[in-house]
Amino acid sequence: MAVNDIQDTFGRKVKYLRLSVTDRCDFRCTYCMSEKMEFLPRSEILSLEECLQVAKTFVGLGVDKIRLTGGEPLTRKDLPWLASRIRELAGLRELTITTNGSQLAKFAQPLVQAGIDRVNISLDSLEPDTFHRITRTGNLPQVLAGIDAAIEAWGPRHVKLNTVLIRDINHLQANDLVRFALARGIDISFIEQMPLGETGYHHADSYYSNTEMLEQVKQHFEVFPSVESTGGPARYWRVSGHESRIGFISPHSHNFCADCNRMRVTARGELFPCLGNEGMVDLLPAVRAGDEGRVRDLIAQAAGLKPKAHTFDLTQPASSIVRFMSRTGG
Ligand code: 5AD
Ligand code: SF4
Repeated sequence: MAVNDIQDTFGRKVKYLRLSVTDRCDFRCTYCMSEKMEFLPRSEILSLEECLQVAKTFVGLGVDKIRLTGGEPLTRKDLPWLASRIRELAGLRELTITTNGSQLAKFAQPLVQAGIDRVNISLDSLEPDTFHRITRTGNLPQVLAGIDAAIEAWGPRHVKLNTVLIRDINHLQANDLVRFALARGIDISFIEQMPLGETGYHHADSYYSNTEMLEQVKQHFEVFPSVESTGGPARYWRVSGHESRIGFISPHSHNFCADCNRMRVTARGELFPCLGNEGMVDLLPAVRAGDEGRVRDLIAQAAGLKPKAHTFDLTQPASSIVRFMSRTGG
């Protein structure tokens, strides 16, 4: 019997693919990378045609949402070309992108034209020194210009900010970020820091939980829980008198694995059924050989590896997952 959807051993259907198009980035965020990163040689990463092929196979298996990620996806040349080709795939409902915003002033319009439906922009601080401390090489005014361009190009309801809070570095700036989002009518989500790769953080100390964050928000804003769900792991709150929603993505304090519908493909064609687990299936040889039947079989195999829940352990000094976020795709 032909397999026409992806289902794991716990009955969860995979409808959402996060496709990393590069492991490179113009930033070096402390929770994502080490200061000196070695990136993959070009020959080892999927060509844009191969990325399209992977997307097509997944959409053929019932995936209806794709997010382009990295590294920083906009460091990849001709990304709008890939986006427009993926957007044409019959059965795809939504195509989105996650970016650090540094190139959005230039790319927001071309990406809208290519058919990208919404954008997530990472922003961890509005204070230049803190921003620099976290991103190491990031330029705040450039990112703010990128956010403006995105709001202009997509409209505020299609733009969301993502913030990772790190205790004693930016956790006290969270309300400023909320105010920034409210003033623009865009959503903002707070993501609990995950222990991925040897980043130099002792997570038990740097981890700032969304439970604490929600308490902090409640002291400054009149918020109420939102009933709607976007199908993702975020729980949303609304703020009286505002369009914006505040999301909480809480891998540690509020595990969401039971509803997980996603898989990740890295820039070098590795398929990870779970961000917080070492299980992986290498698609690259089959993709390179143009053997779609084999790729479908490998995807089914990866579905069988999808664990019930992630295995992050914040109490360990070293990361439980050795690969960096920039490798797996954010
Ligand atoms: N924990 C949580 N979020 C992370 N991101 C990158 N690394 C981590 C981590 N270790 C976030 C980025 C971006 C998204 C792609 O993933 O801040 O918003
Ligand atoms: Fe780049 Fe995003 Fe990683 Fe920061 S978190 S280094 S912006 S990929």
